[in-house]
Amino acid sequence: MDRTFLIDTDTASDDAVALIMALRTSDVRVAAITVVAGNVPLPQAVRNALFTVELCGDDTPVHAGAARPLRRSLQSAEFFHGEDGLGDQGYPPPRAQPASEDAIEAILRASREHPGLTVVTLGPLTNIALALDRDPSFAENIGRLVIMGGAPLTVGNMTPAAEFNLWVDPEAAAAVIDAGMPTELVGWELCRGEAILSHDEMSRVKAFDTEIAHFSIDCNETAVEANFRQSGARGLGLPDPVAMAVALRPDIVRRGSRHHVMIETGSELTRGMTVVDQLGVCGEPQNRATWGDRADREAWTRVTWEIDVSSFKQLLFSILRAG
Ligand code: BDR
Ligand code: CA
Repeated sequence: MDRTFLIDTDTASDDAVALIMALRTSDVRVAAITVVAGNVPLPQAVRNALFTVELCGDDTPVHAGAARPLRRSLQSAEFFHGEDGLGDQGYPPPRAQPASEDAIEAILRASREHPGLTVVTLGPLTNIALALDRDPSFAENIGRLVIMGGAPLTVGNMTPAAEFNLWVDPEAAAAVIDAGMPTELVGWELCRGEAILSHDEMSRVKAFDTEIAHFSIDCNETAVEANFRQSGARGLGLPDPVAMAVALRPDIVRRGSRHHVMIETGSELTRGMTVVDQLGVCGEPQNRATWGDRADREAWTRVTWEIDVSSFKQLLFSILRAG
């Protein structure tokens, strides 16, 4: 059965790999790619999304969205992904232009045209929060919201408490989580450990000798170095591709559970922290439901605790090998 996705991205190097995964999955139709400021400023993220779409020989429309978080200044991550977000490999500018419709309208339209839409977010949640603000009924049409974000084990990559995407725009993250959509949280910790692509695995991927295989490794060159500087881990961590793998193949989740989830917006120390009420001590329903009359529909956030790493890598490799 065909599935329709909308992907919201702050397109840098691991986002680009995740985009390739979706664009190269035959039973997935990507209705739109919407872009948000995050890893790199918005214009660069738009260029990177257009470039990746062209690399895939695709014509999925790319829509520019929010240039900054809801209430804070943008803190980007060139230190991790390179000045251009794609590892400073000197890729040429894309030929295509972004669509004239802005990202928020594109998100709302896609949700109306494709009830049951799967939304996959790979960046700060600013665009999704703005869509909810413009039309709260948007939430009712979403079949799955797969969020790459958060650090439910409190192993943050931005601060000790928080992961980048939720740290950059915590107010947006809190609004989106609170909206009670069927949300699947895929935290940063899941791309660590065995999920990291070793240098041997990166060489194997390059040996596939397809354009997308070379690109996927090359554009992550600065990310590999930054990952080593940051954590001492050798190899390539791929947070956005892990989230995309969960979106494409829900069965790769080995362990997940539903909870009341809160995002810290007040404290500077724990800004953007993913607070998971594992024991139900808040006495809250899992999340405030916003389904109106649709009592048949349960609102929840599922936290992903463990994935099948080998299935994740097999899926990624099979896509990059096929070219
Ligand atoms: C997230 O931040 C970015 O570095 C990645 O693209 C990913 O979306 C990981 O914290
Ligand atoms: Ca990203």
